[in-house]
Amino acid sequence: MDALSWPPGGPLATVRSSVEVAPVAAQTKVYVRLARLPAPASCPAPAAGAARGTGLQSRTGLALLAALARDCRLPPFALLHRDGNGKPRFPDGPDFSISHSRGFAACAVAPPGFSIGIDLEPRDRARAAAVLRIAGEQERAALADGVMTATELWTAKEAVLKAAGAGLPEICGVSVQPAIAHFAGRTYAWRHVHPGQGLVLAIVVDRTMPPVEIRWQAPAVDFPLPNPAWEH
Ligand SMILES: CC(C)(COP(=O)(O)OP(=O)(O)OC[C@H]1O[C@@H](n2cnc3c(N)ncnc32)[C@H](O)[C@@H]1OP(=O)(O)O)[C@@H](O)C(=O)NCCC(=O)NCCS
Repeated sequence: MDALSWPPGGPLATVRSSVEVAPVAAQTKVYVRLARLPAPASCPAPAAGAARGTGLQSRTGLALLAALARDCRLPPFALLHRDGNGKPRFPDGPDFSISHSRGFAACAVAPPGFSIGIDLEPRDRARAAAVLRIAGEQERAALADGVMTATELWTAKEAVLKAAGAGLPEICGVSVQPAIAHFAGRTYAWRHVHPGQGLVLAIVVDRTMPPVEIRWQAPAVDFPLPNPAWEH
């Protein structure tokens, strides 16, 4: 059974950079945390935050990951790095995924052994004409029949790419069917959740979809970058 905490706000604790890993039971769910980005003025350096991976939205994603350490067994954050395609990883897992869009951020941690990708967008974000250009025949039929919206198809495809650690240039290689998707010879499970604020969140894993627990969170804004490998 999914748990959805709504509306955002309420008595939420902030999370600091020194994450204490409490003993937790073996993780069997996907845990998702979402947040509205704090106002830039409340978040000091890096001043510009313009470089990819170092700005306010990236640090909010990391703060959400830190918040997830309450539910998931996470390694020390000093081990975080990005692989050659930019996917952030712990060397020995668990896999996690960060997404941000239009003033909101989300982070999801997968159970051990799973790969995960998420994509967060406003519900009306994708333009149908643009999505049709990257859609296969069955996907076009699903759009025409109203089975999926353009944003749902786009987010499902992008979340598959993120689970695979691939990049947008490969999006035409993602084939989406009801509840499953194929990419680069692998099968993925996908689903959408609608967490409020007019947002849609696609969640993709490379195995059977586990239960998903999703909550809004007030992230600490002073989360430092974990190490130089993050800053590119
Ligand atoms: C992955 C990708 C599709 C995400 O698109 P986006 O519009 O930035 O969307 P989102 O906000 O949903 O995701 C951004 C987050 O995804 C994560 N991410 C970045 N690259 C990723 C990848 N290849 N796979 C999985 N996750 C990735 C990061 O956490 C990033 O946030 P951060 O930079 O703040 O840490 C896009 O960044 C991409 O195509 N990356 C690959 C680029 C590439 O191939 N680079 C090779 C040379 S560096």
